[in-house]
Amino acid sequence: MLFKIRKNWHLTENQTTSESVYLQRRQIIQKLGVLAATAPLAAPASAGLFDVFSSKKKEAPDKRTALDSVASPFSDPSLELTPEKKVLTYNNYYEFGTAKHQPAENAQSLVTDPWQVKVEGNVHKPMTIDFYDLLKQIDIEERIYRLRCVEAWSMNIPWLGFPLSKLIQLAKPMGNARYIAFQTLYDPEQMPGQKDRYLGGGIDYPYVEALTIEEAMHPLTLIAVGLYGKTLAPQNGAPLRLVVPWKYGFKSIKSIVKIRLTENRPPNTWNLLAPHEYGFYANVNPNVDHPRWSQASERFIGEGTLFSSRRQKTLMFNGYADEVASLYKDIDLRRNY
Ligand code: MTE
Repeated sequence: MLFKIRKNWHLTENQTTSESVYLQRRQIIQKLGVLAATAPLAAPASAGLFDVFSSKKKEAPDKRTALDSVASPFSDPSLELTPEKKVLTYNNYYEFGTAKHQPAENAQSLVTDPWQVKVEGNVHKPMTIDFYDLLKQIDIEERIYRLRCVEAWSMNIPWLGFPLSKLIQLAKPMGNARYIAFQTLYDPEQMPGQKDRYLGGGIDYPYVEALTIEEAMHPLTLIAVGLYGKTLAPQNGAPLRLVVPWKYGFKSIKSIVKIRLTENRPPNTWNLLAPHEYGFYANVNPNVDHPRWSQASERFIGEGTLFSSRRQKTLMFNGYADEVASLYKDIDLRRNY
């Protein structure tokens, strides 16, 4: 039996919105244990907030399908959700363009089935996993998490996924594995930003990211395979991506094809591009500003227009301090940004 555990990052009831209709539906479905009958349906870009409120969007075909899920004690059902449409149309996915509206427009032809993921490096059981086989075998949880971008905007998203630790354990890590490196698909024919330096923001592709083994094994660290009750749309990183809710969004690498366990710290894309602006840790921290802007507050992307969207205080570790601060107790967070 699953109990709703009230976590310290929970907000109060009066912050729930019309998206609570969605939540109620999900909660009823989860209680009944049945699936909703949904039909198939030189910075991370400059803020670009107008994009999300612009009405001049091309309507993208929706190839997502419904996904069953179980409730999770790590979810925060009291969070005000960012509307689904904004989660789907306000994206950072430079392989498909640097403007917020471009991934939704340019990523629709990305082939995400079949999809294989390699797990290799310092493991006893290296493997190549067929993503759809894995999906059939693993319990999918719904977790409502905060997402905080380094560009000082935030969303609250109902992700569907499973703990990264489950995947890592399948490969049986060796004792000397201290880091985990991730890599996005490299396919310039499908990803126009990978062959056009202007469209792709000057990144040296493939996009890579990494975590320490302790961060990777933390129960909050999620491999997301869907959101809002359905499989991921290509612009959100289909078919699988990382979600590390206490870190800036650039750590949450999309469309993963390779996971490698290593002894030495692997490189990460934004740190390679601008090391004095983007670190390895990238923990959300209101006390350590980006060299070009403050991180003390953030603009929450919720209902409404740009002008009615609220500015709110940034929370230490994005509100997950009780769960993760101990990972960094011996680290100077100002130097290790
Ligand atoms: N992964 C890849 N491969 N390419 C990217 O450009 N952008 C990152 C991250 N993962 C990015 C990526 C950034 S900066 C953010 S804020 C989040 O994805 C955005 O995720 P979303 O578009 O699903 O909200």
